[in-house]
Amino acid sequence: MANTVRKLLVTNALPYANGVLHLGHLVGYIQADIWVRFQKMRGHDCTYICGSDSHGTPIMIQAEKLGIPPEKLVEQMRIEHQKDFEGFFVDFDNYYTTHSPENKELAETIFKRHVEAGNIHKRTIKQLFDPERKMFLPDRFIKGECPRCGAKDQYGDSCEVCGATYLPTELKNPYSTLTGAQPIEKESEHYFFKLQNFETMLRDWTQAGHLQEQMTNKLNEWFKDGLQEWDISRDAPYFGFKIPGENDKYFYVWLDAPIGYMASFKNLCEKEKKLNFAEYWDPNSKTELYHFIGKDIIYFHALFWPAILSGAEFRTPTAVFANGFLTVDGQKMSKSRGTYIKARTYLNYLQPEYLRYYYAAKLSDRIEDLDINFDDFAQRVNADLVGKFVNIASRCASFINKNFSGKLSARIVDAELFNEFINAGDSIAEKFENLQFSQAIRQLMALADRANQYIDEKKPWSLAKDPARTEEVQDICTLGINFFRTMMIYLKPVLPETAKKVEAFLNISPLTWEDKNFPLLNHTINEFQPLAQRLDKKEIDAMKTAALEDIEKSTNTISNHTEQKQSEQKTTEEKSNQYISIDDFAKIDLRIAKIIHAEHVEGAEKLLRLELDLGDQKRQVFAGIKSAYQPEQLIGRLTVIVANLAPRKMRFGVSEGMVLAAGPGGQDLWILSPDNGAQPGMKVK
Ligand code: MSP
Ligand code: ZN
Repeated sequence: MANTVRKLLVTNALPYANGVLHLGHLVGYIQADIWVRFQKMRGHDCTYICGSDSHGTPIMIQAEKLGIPPEKLVEQMRIEHQKDFEGFFVDFDNYYTTHSPENKELAETIFKRHVEAGNIHKRTIKQLFDPERKMFLPDRFIKGECPRCGAKDQYGDSCEVCGATYLPTELKNPYSTLTGAQPIEKESEHYFFKLQNFETMLRDWTQAGHLQEQMTNKLNEWFKDGLQEWDISRDAPYFGFKIPGENDKYFYVWLDAPIGYMASFKNLCEKEKKLNFAEYWDPNSKTELYHFIGKDIIYFHALFWPAILSGAEFRTPTAVFANGFLTVDGQKMSKSRGTYIKARTYLNYLQPEYLRYYYAAKLSDRIEDLDINFDDFAQRVNADLVGKFVNIASRCASFINKNFSGKLSARIVDAELFNEFINAGDSIAEKFENLQFSQAIRQLMALADRANQYIDEKKPWSLAKDPARTEEVQDICTLGINFFRTMMIYLKPVLPETAKKVEAFLNISPLTWEDKNFPLLNHTINEFQPLAQRLDKKEIDAMKTAALEDIEKSTNTISNHTEQKQSEQKTTEEKSNQYISIDDFAKIDLRIAKIIHAEHVEGAEKLLRLELDLGDQKRQVFAGIKSAYQPEQLIGRLTVIVANLAPRKMRFGVSEGMVLAAGPGGQDLWILSPDNGAQPGMKVK
């Protein structure tokens, strides 16, 4: 145990307030939460803060789509995010927002200090502008053909097909994703932060042990390429803070987002008087500052942020930790792959601590992607948590409860073996401290094996039959309970809720790391309550089904559009979306298809499964026309199909196109009948 109390401030990346959390986000939040809980158990003064990243164009656009003010969207999302975090026992000391008075004031202060120090200057640049929507377009709102390979519909910064990176102005046939209009180049004056002024400072800082090795390497590459000045302003319309002295210019979201860490802490200081803002943020602060982030935002945290802080007379971070990205069953998390799982969907079906345990068992101190494979997930939960760990308690508790009225004996019968458990605490602590969670878990499971082996050898169940050996049974089970308790101490950062139940069962006050040195003896415990249940594959399947349903709902654009059209607050974007250009139309490959097979889909309210003949190929399509047709009525008829619609994974299988039907819906939906001359595969023009 470290004998000096450290003061630590830990932050987690602030999630954008325009989307719900998914299992990928949770990797970093669970990682940091485990680390923070560990620090607190060790007696350190550790403060954990986060909040919503509330500004920027996507949030503004999203709010417009929903017909609500951005402030309202951000507030709703903040509440939803907080509920999700609570659901996974991610326990922030403060969860605030970047759209706050504290953040505005801090952002202005920092900006002014840099202006005064000569680190910020203005210059005019040309950018792409949507002439219909009358706004400058961020890269991700521009699409077009890749200048290298010609692939269509590529984003303004990089091509998903060939991997090329380029400027949005280099795209061929660019269009605004908001209006479809062709962007024009327009001039505007912007504020730039001279990152180059901090090159020496950053080079020193990078080499001083604040970063993971892979991050240092990445930074060295960036140094080699040369540091670029950074555009920190955006033109109206924008949701953010106005730049002092300007009327229609705002701070770029990524300027005030990390300042949001400071603002969240400041807000906490106002509530908790024992915390002092200056003590944590002054340049000569003795406290420690840690930022947990995902690997995609290293540039902002390891280059801009330390430069922004140091030039504005604030302390720099003690360390920045980046986690890799989550893949699901070996696939990138994405809606089109059917691997997108919302935090809430998981919580509706599975135990939060199982995910915490699984992530802990896989996380290392390196910036490596990690995969959640659900067979492996079930296996680890059942074999390790339930089979090895909880099992020790249930095996021993029944004897103590029944035969000794809950009373533990007064001694540790095998001191040597128990010392192994105590001593392991130091190396497990070191692993937690260094973010080598998977190694800590592996060591813990070796202890669990050792404890189970001890019980197997001693066989208290057979000794219990011999009245002369009562005392031995009590001693063995007392040691078993103490093995379990010691392991619970080490697992408490990962399984905080189980720890609470164990504390109630053992009839003890909240466990700290230090408690490992003092076994529980001569003490009455309570009745054992089941601590963890085996995970049934059915629960995982139900969760996966629900996740696919979520995806279907969110990508079911037909019903989304209907809802939007019905809503009164139509935005410019939607109005212009009512028309498509002739080029858009030309992109749609419409063909005659013959329905060769049709059947009901089990569990689907509206869908029929169709097999279609397109002349040169066969396709499977799920069509929402069950209310209008019996399957047998359809076989042999012709229909029109959108043949180049991206295949979509649905709960029931992959749908390879979309069947077109006419009519208002319900029972009144019509599909073409056989007609003279129409042949499967013909193009519809
Ligand atoms: N708003 C910014 C962070 C600003 S910090 C001053 C942001 N938000 S985010 O919502 O997109 O992401 C939140 C965190 O989740 C980030 O650390 C990001 O790297 C992480 N992840 C997002 N998707 C992830 C995975 N699929 N896997 C692991 N981490 C992921 O970035
Ligand atoms: Zn390309």
